[in-house]
Formats: sequence, C-alpha cells, structure tokens
Amino acid sequence: MTEFYKLCRVFKCLTACDGCCIIYTMIKDLQQQIIKLKKERDVCILAHSYMSEEICEVADFTGDSYALSVKAKTAPQSTVIMCGVRFMAETVKMLSPQKKVILASPDAGCPMAEQFDREVIEQVKKMYGDYAVVAYVNTTAELKTVADVCVTSSSAVKICRALPDKNILFIPDINLGTYVSKQVPEKNFKLLSGGCPTHAKIEKAEVIAAKRAHPDALFLVHPECRPEVVELADFVGSTSGIMDFAEKSDKKEFIIGTENSIVQHLQYKCPEKRFYPLSKDLVCHNMKLTTLPDVLNCILGCGGEEIVMEENLRAQAVKCIEKMIELGG
Ligand code: 13P
Ligand code: SF4
Repeated sequence: MTEFYKLCRVFKCLTACDGCCIIYTMIKDLQQQIIKLKKERDVCILAHSYMSEEICEVADFTGDSYALSVKAKTAPQSTVIMCGVRFMAETVKMLSPQKKVILASPDAGCPMAEQFDREVIEQVKKMYGDYAVVAYVNTTAELKTVADVCVTSSSAVKICRALPDKNILFIPDINLGTYVSKQVPEKNFKLLSGGCPTHAKIEKAEVIAAKRAHPDALFLVHPECRPEVVELADFVGSTSGIMDFAEKSDKKEFIIGTENSIVQHLQYKCPEKRFYPLSKDLVCHNMKLTTLPDVLNCILGCGGEEIVMEENLRAQAVKCIEKMIELGG
C-alpha cells in the first residue's frame, strides 16, 4: 500500500481516497491471479515500455523494442504474451517459432508498420540497386522479407555504422532516418516519407513553450519526432534510453518527448524528480488498447490472438532480425 500512496494511479493525486482504494484492490487482485497463473501455465509476459504501470508490474520483462526482441529469443517459457503492438508479437514468433505467441490485444497495430507494401519497396529497391535496405523494426513481416537488416531506435546508429555498405535505403521512418543520417555522415542515405503519427505531430513551438514553462528541465526526446524537435533535445534515445537517462541524471526536472506512459513510469520510479509531458497529445492509442483483464484472458485461453506465420515468410523475415541482434549486441 505504501507504494500506492506515492502517487494515486486512479486520480493522479498525491493522497488516496475510498474510490481509488477500491480500484487499487481490484487491480491487485487481477495482478495476483495473473502472477499465479503465468507460473502454473509456463507463460512469459513481455511488456513494451508504453504499457501501463499495472501491466509492467506483472511482466517478466519490460523494455524498448530492441530489448524485447533479444529477450524473446532467450525466454524459457513455452508461451509468450506480448503486451505491445502486432509487429512486436510477430518478431517474437519469428525468433521463437516453436513457442505459442499471443498478442494481448488483437487490434493493437502500429500505423507506421503498415505504411508501405512490399511491392512498393521492391520497386524502390530497383531504383537504388546498390543501396542496403535498413528497415525499422516497426514494419510488417512481409516488409522484413525485402530488408537486409532491421534496426530499432536504440540500435539504428550503431548498426548503420557497422554495415559494410556505404549506401543505405532507410525505411519507413523519415524522422528516425534523418536522425541516423546525421549521426552517420560518412554514409549516403535515401529516406522514405513514413513515420509515427503520434510522434510526428509534435511541433517545435510546443518544445519552446514547454521549455519556457519549465526552464530548469532537461528535454529528452524519441528520434521518431521531427528533426526540428529533436534538434532542441538534451538527450535523444529509445523509450528505455530516455528512462535510463532520467533515472541516472543528477537533474531534477525533465520534459519527456515520447509517449506519455513514460512520464508516468518515471514519476513512479523517481518520486523526488518531476516529469512533464511535452504534449498531452503524445498518446499512442494502439499501445493503450491492452488492459490487465486482456492479459488475464490470454493466460486463461479466452483472449488475445495467437500469431500464426507461414514458415517461408517467417524464415525469410527473421534473417534481418537476426542480423540486427548480431550487429546491435
Ligand atoms: P522503442 O524502440 O524506443 O521501444 O520504440 C518503439 C516505438 O514504437 C516507439 O514509438
Ligand atoms: Fe507505432 Fe508510433 Fe505507436 Fe510507436 S508510438 S507503436 S511508432 S504508432
């Protein structure tokens, strides 16, 4: 209970009342059922950092998309429940075809992952025959079959530097691609105009206003934001990178330029520091679809969607994920 009183998770206030005590008890009850059943049924719960605090608390592992991919390979359990979006569950299935992989909320997709069809990328590849195709992991399994290597926001710079190729066709996120191209100036980049609708809508004026409102705060940003937003940052990193930086920093105030769940997680982890969302609109509605009852229903076998992938597609798509792990490790 003491933990709970740090910050009320129902009404976001600093005290607790009967209303939030009842909801807290319900959450704890659901969590206990999940923790007991996952052990009995040999289930591993993976949660992306954008999941709610309640879900992260029952997860075996929480992290950014790179860390989840690596964890997926080594998790010993026979069933994996992915609390995140579809491409993340597909990645787990690719790396562990023998496991039962369940996407906790079947409607949770990533709009960026769906932005380009394989046929379109094949056409672009014909135009740039001497370019290596580097695909952000936020892509469909189909699209991964035409990529040479995958990257995540935390591994993109390292992997693009390490590739032997001088020319890189970076798909689909133009903002991440622009950020990486500036960090790796020795290579030639071609970018497509895809991106994350949640991060890309943030404007420079909002950063300036947030900095004016919180002049002592450091500004931490995800590279899916526009270049003019990223340029104003004190730190650029993945969801886990932003959390690590804020936790280790001596500073006390931070403006968070990524999905607002990170603000909530950091406020729980570091109650003595202050975290401000860059914008109230920084919400990924797909990531918000997964609930604690969804997780319980998956374990009980009456919820979620089992990922089924045709073997040829899996075998072709997994190559660029394995290369990512090899070069990014
Ligand atoms: P991370 O790789 O930082 O977890 O990002 C995934 C994502 O979808 C961010 O919007
Ligand atoms: Fe996709 Fe953007 Fe949501 Fe991340 S925040 S899952 S990139 S839509």
